[in-house]
Amino acid sequence: MYFEKKSEFPKDFLWDAASAAYQVEGAYLEDGKGLSIWDEFVRIPGKTFKGTVGDKAVDHYHRYKEDIALMAECGLKTYRFSIAWARIFPNGKGELNEKGINFYNQLIDECLKYKIEPMVTIYHWDLPLALEKEYGGWESEQIIDDYLNYATTLFQHFGKKVIYWITFNEQNVFARLGWTLGQHPPGKINDQKMFYQVNHHINIAHAKTVLAYRKMNLGGKIGVSFAYSPSYSLDCKPENGLAKADYDDLYLYWYFDIAGYGRYPKAAYNFLEAQGYAPTITKEEEELLKAAAPVDFLGINYYKTKVAQSNPIDGVGMDLNANNSGIKGSGKVVGIPGAYKNPSNPFLPTTSWDWAIDPKGLRLGCRNLTSRYDLPIVISENGLGAIDQLENGQIHDAYRIEYIQSHLIELKNAIQEGCDIIAYCVWSFTDLLSWLNGYQKRYGLVYVDRDEKEDSGSLDRIKKDSFYWYKKIIETNGKDLEE
Ligand code: BG6
Repeated sequence: MYFEKKSEFPKDFLWDAASAAYQVEGAYLEDGKGLSIWDEFVRIPGKTFKGTVGDKAVDHYHRYKEDIALMAECGLKTYRFSIAWARIFPNGKGELNEKGINFYNQLIDECLKYKIEPMVTIYHWDLPLALEKEYGGWESEQIIDDYLNYATTLFQHFGKKVIYWITFNEQNVFARLGWTLGQHPPGKINDQKMFYQVNHHINIAHAKTVLAYRKMNLGGKIGVSFAYSPSYSLDCKPENGLAKADYDDLYLYWYFDIAGYGRYPKAAYNFLEAQGYAPTITKEEEELLKAAAPVDFLGINYYKTKVAQSNPIDGVGMDLNANNSGIKGSGKVVGIPGAYKNPSNPFLPTTSWDWAIDPKGLRLGCRNLTSRYDLPIVISENGLGAIDQLENGQIHDAYRIEYIQSHLIELKNAIQEGCDIIAYCVWSFTDLLSWLNGYQKRYGLVYVDRDEKEDSGSLDRIKKDSFYWYKKIIETNGKDLEE
């Protein structure tokens, strides 16, 4: 839509940058921390790029003061980070690890010292290994109460200081990669029935946690983050229009409708039920999901859009060989037989990992969510994974600036069009470990000197050009974006 006069970002807009515990902290065995499923999974040969492990990561555990001082220098209003469950409960439940509580208390206090609002993700994929060994982790209903106990422990200890809570990061990614593609723990391939059941357990854990949080009356806000890739129909052929509706229901609204309405979308449910994959839902669960909806905000991790095309029942499925190499064009067309497939978009450039770069897609996505749910939106991740070159001690990442700038311009347009966007988190603040892509795929505003080898580099922090650029954007509350 065209507006002659451009609007501004709201005065209290939360300029943020994000991380996740496993990707930055390191100290994987320190101060009583238990092992997580990722500590084990990365040691299976061939699972991660060049066999990278997160034992040391970028050593945020020891350098958080330096990192938060850099965030303050950049002007961040918020810092989104996740808590490692196995630092709080080394066995996932039972005895509490006071040293873990202390660490996050210090991290939160350090943020508050600089007036940086902490935004906490309760679960960003690093399940305590003990729960996986005891009852299969997310496969069992037992996980629901253990997660609830962990989450409420966090609310008890940090709830007076933390206003923004995110129950889960991208269940649509970690469940799919864990139970259908074998690329995340527990490494199961094509177990469709369990994938949807796991996802249902996560939904119930989310709902119980939202209700428990509200009961505690702490005055903050609680939401959830999904990976969000809005779609276009390949063309105006009616069957491709329907394929888009199938993609939206099965890949997007399957998750968002739980957060927004507390129910699954009907067409997707019927399709999965007919295939024998739909989760088992009790009456009590139905009521619980409804009672917890809507969340206070929808978190979206936005990196790309998808194209939807019809896909016959004997058509392509999920491909196990995703592009984790950084070699453009090595990704394959994937889909759900009998519903849709996702060919590439000839109108959009891509990253070296074949992710379509589509700033307008972010605006479109925010518009779609606003029309459907009319809820506040947190852009909980957005950024560019790229290979950075250190030249004379500097990183000239004009490509990252261009990426973030173009997305922020469209975000501003979305706000003008009525979307209630409250925060924007650049992924990521420092460089960090990309779960499957090692350290060659860098996202940070701050470079960290290390590579895939655990003993490599000084771990020194070097501000990239994008750091200075983002600082200026925050200082002017996004006024100079178009320059
Ligand atoms: C999101 C995750 O899926 O995307 C992050 O929440 C992740 O943890 C980010 O790092 C980028 O993905 P990748 O695979 O490029 O590291």
